Amino acid sequence: MNFDKKISFELPDDAFSRLDETADEKFYTIPRFVAHIDYSAIDAVTNIYRKYLPENGDILDLMSSMLSHLPEEVDYKSVTGLGMNEREMFHNKQLDTWVAHNLNDDPSLPFHDNQFDAGIICVSIDYLTNPVAVLKDMGRALKNGAPLIITYSNRYFEAKATSVWLQLNDEQRGYLIKSFLSEADSFGNIEIADYSPEFGDPLYAVIAKNTA
Ligand SMILES: C[S@@+](CC[C@H](N)C(=O)[O-])C[C@H]1O[C@@H](n2cnc3c(N)ncnc32)[C@H](O)[C@@H]1O
Repeated sequence: MNFDKKISFELPDDAFSRLDETADEKFYTIPRFVAHIDYSAIDAVTNIYRKYLPENGDILDLMSSMLSHLPEEVDYKSVTGLGMNEREMFHNKQLDTWVAHNLNDDPSLPFHDNQFDAGIICVSIDYLTNPVAVLKDMGRALKNGAPLIITYSNRYFEAKATSVWLQLNDEQRGYLIKSFLSEADSFGNIEIADYSPEFGDPLYAVIAKNTA
Protein backbone atom coordinates (compact mmCIF):
# COMPACT_ATOMS: atom_id res chain seq x y z
CA MET A 1 0.00 0.00 0.00
CA ASN A 2 1.30 3.49 -0.84
CA PHE A 3 0.59 6.35 1.52
CA ASP A 4 1.12 9.23 -0.87
CA LYS A 5 -2.28 10.92 -0.71
CA LYS A 6 -3.31 14.08 1.08
CA ILE A 7 -6.20 13.10 3.31
CA SER A 8 -7.60 15.15 6.15
CA PHE A 9 -10.42 14.39 8.56
CA GLU A 10 -13.30 16.25 10.08
CA LEU A 11 -14.20 14.07 13.00
CA PRO A 12 -17.76 13.82 14.32
CA ASP A 13 -18.43 14.49 18.01
CA ASP A 14 -18.68 10.79 18.80
CA ALA A 15 -15.41 9.86 17.02
CA PHE A 16 -13.84 8.62 20.24
CA SER A 17 -16.82 6.82 21.72
CA ARG A 18 -16.49 3.08 22.25
CA LEU A 19 -18.83 0.10 22.38
CA ASP A 20 -17.60 -0.60 25.93
CA GLU A 21 -17.59 2.68 27.81
CA THR A 22 -16.90 1.12 31.21
CA ALA A 23 -13.64 2.06 32.94
CA ASP A 24 -10.59 0.65 31.13
CA GLU A 25 -9.36 -0.77 34.46
CA LYS A 26 -12.20 -3.28 34.30
CA PHE A 27 -11.34 -4.52 30.79
CA TYR A 28 -7.62 -4.83 31.56
CA THR A 29 -7.87 -6.33 35.09
CA ILE A 30 -7.09 -9.86 33.94
CA PRO A 31 -3.63 -10.14 32.36
CA ARG A 32 -3.44 -11.36 28.78
CA PHE A 33 -0.24 -13.32 28.34
CA VAL A 34 -0.54 -13.35 24.56
CA ALA A 35 0.95 -11.84 21.42
CA HIS A 36 -1.52 -9.38 19.91
CA ILE A 37 -0.22 -9.84 16.35
CA ASP A 38 1.33 -12.89 14.70
CA TYR A 39 5.06 -13.60 14.61
CA SER A 40 5.55 -12.34 11.04
CA ALA A 41 4.09 -8.97 11.99
CA ILE A 42 6.15 -8.93 15.19
CA ASP A 43 9.28 -9.50 13.08
CA ALA A 44 8.30 -6.50 10.97
CA VAL A 45 7.95 -4.37 14.11
CA THR A 46 11.32 -5.55 15.44
CA ASN A 47 12.98 -4.68 12.12
CA ILE A 48 11.58 -1.15 12.25
CA TYR A 49 12.91 -0.77 15.81
CA ARG A 50 16.29 -2.13 14.71
CA LYS A 51 16.44 0.60 12.07
CA TYR A 52 15.11 3.61 13.97
CA LEU A 53 15.75 3.21 17.71
CA PRO A 54 19.07 4.53 19.02
CA GLU A 55 21.38 2.01 20.68
CA ASN A 56 22.03 2.85 24.32
CA GLY A 57 18.98 5.08 24.31
CA ASP A 58 16.26 5.47 26.93
CA ILE A 59 13.14 4.00 25.31
CA LEU A 60 9.50 4.59 26.27
CA ASP A 61 7.12 1.75 25.35
CA LEU A 62 3.71 3.42 25.65
CA MET A 63 0.67 1.11 25.97
CA SER A 64 2.93 -1.76 26.88
CA SER A 65 2.14 -5.33 27.86
CA MET A 66 4.04 -8.61 28.05
CA LEU A 67 6.03 -8.05 24.82
CA SER A 68 7.90 -4.99 23.57
CA HIS A 69 9.25 -6.55 20.34
CA LEU A 70 12.66 -4.86 20.71
CA PRO A 71 15.63 -6.49 18.94
CA GLU A 72 17.34 -8.82 21.42
CA GLU A 73 20.86 -8.09 20.18
CA VAL A 74 20.66 -4.32 20.75
CA ASP A 75 21.50 -2.77 24.12
CA TYR A 76 19.29 0.04 25.34
CA LYS A 77 20.16 2.10 28.37
CA SER A 78 16.65 1.66 29.74
CA VAL A 79 13.23 0.55 28.57
CA THR A 80 10.21 1.98 30.42
CA GLY A 81 6.70 0.62 29.94
CA LEU A 82 3.37 2.32 30.54
CA GLY A 83 0.21 0.23 30.26
CA MET A 84 -2.93 -0.88 32.05
CA ASN A 85 -1.84 -4.21 33.51
CA GLU A 86 1.08 -4.47 35.95
CA ARG A 87 1.30 -8.25 35.77
CA GLU A 88 1.71 -8.21 31.99
CA MET A 89 4.52 -5.66 32.30
CA PHE A 90 6.10 -7.57 35.22
CA HIS A 91 6.48 -10.55 32.85
CA ASN A 92 7.88 -8.41 30.02
CA LYS A 93 11.59 -9.32 30.01
CA GLN A 94 12.56 -6.23 28.02
CA LEU A 95 11.18 -3.64 30.45
CA ASP A 96 13.45 -2.23 33.17
CA THR A 97 10.68 -0.22 34.81
CA TRP A 98 6.96 0.16 34.26
CA VAL A 99 3.94 2.04 35.49
CA ALA A 100 0.23 1.30 35.29
CA HIS A 101 -1.54 4.45 34.14
CA ASN A 102 -4.86 5.01 32.40
CA LEU A 103 -4.22 7.46 29.56
CA ASN A 104 -7.94 7.81 28.89
CA ASP A 105 -8.41 9.15 32.42
CA ASP A 106 -5.27 11.26 32.40
CA PRO A 107 -3.39 11.85 29.13
CA SER A 108 -0.40 13.37 30.97
CA LEU A 109 2.57 11.02 31.09
CA PRO A 110 4.17 10.51 34.53
CA PHE A 111 7.65 11.24 33.17
CA HIS A 112 10.11 14.15 33.11
CA ASP A 113 10.58 16.56 30.22
CA ASN A 114 13.11 15.27 27.64
CA GLN A 115 13.48 11.96 29.48
CA PHE A 116 13.49 9.58 26.49
CA ASP A 117 15.52 9.10 23.31
CA ALA A 118 12.66 7.32 21.49
CA GLY A 119 9.02 6.32 21.90
CA ILE A 120 7.10 3.32 20.61
CA ILE A 121 3.36 2.58 20.52
CA CYS A 122 2.56 -0.83 19.11
CA VAL A 123 -0.95 -1.91 18.01
CA SER A 124 -2.58 0.30 20.64
CA ILE A 125 -3.21 3.85 19.38
CA ASP A 126 -6.76 2.80 18.48
CA TYR A 127 -7.72 2.64 22.18
CA LEU A 128 -6.95 6.27 23.01
CA THR A 129 -9.93 8.55 23.45
CA ASN A 130 -7.75 11.66 23.48
CA PRO A 131 -4.79 10.68 21.26
CA VAL A 132 -3.79 14.26 20.47
CA ALA A 133 -3.30 15.15 24.15
CA VAL A 134 -1.30 11.95 24.74
CA LEU A 135 0.91 12.60 21.70
CA LYS A 136 1.42 16.20 22.71
CA ASP A 137 2.66 15.05 26.10
CA MET A 138 4.78 12.40 24.42
CA GLY A 139 6.45 15.33 22.65
CA ARG A 140 7.31 16.81 26.04
CA ALA A 141 8.72 13.53 27.42
CA LEU A 142 10.85 12.84 24.32
CA LYS A 143 14.08 14.63 23.55
CA ASN A 144 14.16 16.94 20.57
CA GLY A 145 14.79 14.87 17.43
CA ALA A 146 13.75 11.60 19.09
CA PRO A 147 11.84 9.16 16.85
CA LEU A 148 8.29 8.11 17.67
CA ILE A 149 7.17 4.86 16.03
CA ILE A 150 3.46 4.06 15.99
CA THR A 151 2.58 0.67 14.49
CA TYR A 152 -0.85 -0.77 13.78
CA SER A 153 -2.48 -3.81 12.25
CA ASN A 154 -6.03 -4.92 11.53
CA ARG A 155 -6.43 -6.70 14.86
CA TYR A 156 -7.92 -4.99 17.90
CA PHE A 157 -10.32 -5.40 20.81
CA GLU A 158 -13.45 -4.18 19.05
CA ALA A 159 -15.23 -3.21 22.28
CA LYS A 160 -12.44 -0.85 23.29
CA ALA A 161 -11.38 0.58 19.91
CA THR A 162 -12.67 4.06 19.15
CA SER A 163 -15.60 4.55 16.83
CA VAL A 164 -13.49 6.41 14.24
CA TRP A 165 -10.96 3.54 14.13
CA LEU A 166 -13.71 1.00 13.51
CA GLN A 167 -15.14 3.05 10.66
CA LEU A 168 -11.90 3.46 8.68
CA ASN A 169 -9.92 1.02 6.57
CA ASP A 170 -6.21 0.24 7.06
CA GLU A 171 -5.08 2.93 4.65
CA GLN A 172 -7.27 5.65 6.18
CA ARG A 173 -6.05 4.71 9.67
CA GLY A 174 -2.51 5.68 8.70
CA TYR A 175 -3.68 9.14 7.67
CA LEU A 176 -5.75 9.39 10.85
CA ILE A 177 -2.64 8.79 12.99
CA LYS A 178 -0.75 11.32 10.89
CA SER A 179 -3.52 13.86 11.56
CA PHE A 180 -3.23 13.21 15.32
CA LEU A 181 0.51 13.85 15.14
CA SER A 182 0.03 17.02 13.11
CA GLU A 183 -2.58 18.30 15.55
CA ALA A 184 -0.34 17.51 18.53
CA ASP A 185 2.05 19.99 16.93
CA SER A 186 5.14 18.35 18.44
CA PHE A 187 6.30 16.17 15.55
CA GLY A 188 7.73 16.58 12.05
CA ASN A 189 8.97 14.37 9.22
CA ILE A 190 5.85 12.24 9.53
CA GLU A 191 6.04 9.16 7.30
CA ILE A 192 3.51 6.38 6.84
CA ALA A 193 4.62 3.06 5.37
CA ASP A 194 3.40 -0.47 4.78
CA TYR A 195 5.69 -3.04 6.40
CA SER A 196 3.31 -5.98 6.01
CA PRO A 197 4.98 -9.38 5.76
CA GLU A 198 4.18 -11.49 2.70
CA PHE A 199 2.06 -13.81 4.83
CA GLY A 200 0.37 -13.04 8.12
CA ASP A 201 -1.06 -9.99 9.85
CA PRO A 202 -0.62 -6.67 8.02
CA LEU A 203 1.68 -4.17 9.69
CA TYR A 204 1.84 -0.42 9.07
CA ALA A 205 3.97 2.23 10.74
CA VAL A 206 3.71 5.97 11.21
CA ILE A 207 7.13 7.34 12.10
CA ALA A 208 7.86 10.90 13.16
CA LYS A 209 10.55 13.01 14.79
CA ASN A 210 9.95 15.01 17.91
CA THR A 211 10.23 18.75 17.40
CA ALA A 212 8.94 19.90 20.80
C1 LIG B 1 -3.39 -4.81 21.97
S1 LIG B 1 -2.45 -4.47 23.42
C2 LIG B 1 -0.83 -4.14 22.76
C3 LIG B 1 0.23 -4.29 23.78
C4 LIG B 1 1.68 -4.14 23.28
N1 LIG B 1 1.96 -2.78 22.87
C5 LIG B 1 2.01 -5.12 22.20
O1 LIG B 1 2.52 -4.72 21.16
O2 LIG B 1 1.78 -6.33 22.39
C6 LIG B 1 -3.08 -2.89 23.89
C7 LIG B 1 -2.37 -2.28 25.08
O3 LIG B 1 -2.86 -0.96 25.27
C8 LIG B 1 -2.85 -0.67 26.65
N2 LIG B 1 -3.93 0.28 26.92
C9 LIG B 1 -5.21 0.16 26.54
N3 LIG B 1 -5.94 1.18 27.02
C10 LIG B 1 -5.09 1.97 27.73
C11 LIG B 1 -5.24 3.14 28.49
N4 LIG B 1 -6.44 3.71 28.65
N5 LIG B 1 -4.14 3.67 29.08
C12 LIG B 1 -2.93 3.09 28.96
N6 LIG B 1 -2.72 1.96 28.24
C13 LIG B 1 -3.80 1.40 27.64
C14 LIG B 1 -3.12 -2.01 27.35
O4 LIG B 1 -2.48 -2.07 28.60
C15 LIG B 1 -2.57 -3.04 26.37
O5 LIG B 1 -1.36 -3.54 26.82
